[in-house]
Amino acid sequence: MSVVTQSEGLHPLKPYKSLENEVLQARIEAVRREFGDRLLILGHHYQQDEVIAHCDLRGDSYQLSQMAAESESCEAIVFCGVHFMAETADLLANRPDKMAARNGVRVPVVLPDMAAGCSMADMAAINQVEAAWEDMGEVIDTSEVIPVTYINSAASLKAFCGRHGGIVCTSSNAAAVLEWAFERGRRVFFFPDQHLGRNTALKMGIGVDQMPVWDPYQLELGGNTEAFLQNSKVILWKGHCSVHQMFRPEHVAQFRQQHPGIKILVHPECPREVNDLADVSGSTGKIIKTVEESPPGTKWAIGTELHLVNRLKQEHPEQEIHFLSPVVCMCATMYRIDLAHLCWSLENLRDGHPVNVIEVEPEVTKWALIALERMLAVR
Ligand code: 13P
Ligand code: SF4
Repeated sequence: MSVVTQSEGLHPLKPYKSLENEVLQARIEAVRREFGDRLLILGHHYQQDEVIAHCDLRGDSYQLSQMAAESESCEAIVFCGVHFMAETADLLANRPDKMAARNGVRVPVVLPDMAAGCSMADMAAINQVEAAWEDMGEVIDTSEVIPVTYINSAASLKAFCGRHGGIVCTSSNAAAVLEWAFERGRRVFFFPDQHLGRNTALKMGIGVDQMPVWDPYQLELGGNTEAFLQNSKVILWKGHCSVHQMFRPEHVAQFRQQHPGIKILVHPECPREVNDLADVSGSTGKIIKTVEESPPGTKWAIGTELHLVNRLKQEHPEQEIHFLSPVVCMCATMYRIDLAHLCWSLENLRDGHPVNVIEVEPEVTKWALIALERMLAVR
């Protein structure tokens, strides 16, 4: 099989972009029927409904990692999500034991649009993290620091954690992972999302006076004093999600005032001021479960990506669901995956020349897998 990238050729998507949705849907389903269970289409909860309709399984980042790790019969994975998720699926679906069982055959993991990245993941580059590690090593003993990367990060950062006794976390297991880390070290270096790190550590009783924020664009110690780093428990990377930072405490106040009894349900990527005011905070999987398990008539204002909130509204007309922000907070990169990209990537896969195959290089794979497997073993 030859592998080509999206940039090769002249506008390979153009013919697909002009097709009607019904045509694209029929063609996508034809490829799915042809492959049967040899093909696994995974979809993150933030995907648009018309894409979700063609996914075999959907989940939050942790559930999707597990699905990729446990995939047995499939010969190809198409990942409707963002780049770091497809990388993680590649790492887990092509683990050495799995490859050996398949006589060395890889399961290609396809991301329908290469431009589907994550702005938060892009806020921490491996050279910046390595430079920070070296710098902080001037004032604290890094052999006592456990690096923890949020799964929303490049594979090279996961590999950094694997090499330095660290681990990966998702929004659904961050507390358990931090406990794992504190059983092994005195401090944690948490990247790239300062909010998930801070919100989780606060719930564990760690104060902000022990959580310096490392700004990679500051020349001296990430903008911190020596004393602050020496007194630290969790060193937070100065990164955030551009979608979740739009939710503000005044939105919570407004809903509470206008809708007495309303419950606030948010993702822990929201800033501390919002997270502290919420009734429930959790991963996209937890948000869905919380709504599913609530009695009819429950009133919610939900602070997470728009497509998921709109889907919850449709699926739960028996509850009153509002979007927490007055402005549109949607993940523009998740939204890049559309029917045209999905159909184009599936038909190329069927025709034996998969496009947009995400393959992590071997040295990075080796170490990133160690950090991921540590996470999957945490209960
Ligand atoms: P979940 O792990 O909760 O699905 O979140 C992924 C994500 O990117 C949230 O912005
Ligand atoms: Fe990244 Fe935020 Fe989009 Fe999640 S919602 S994929 S963190 S940019």
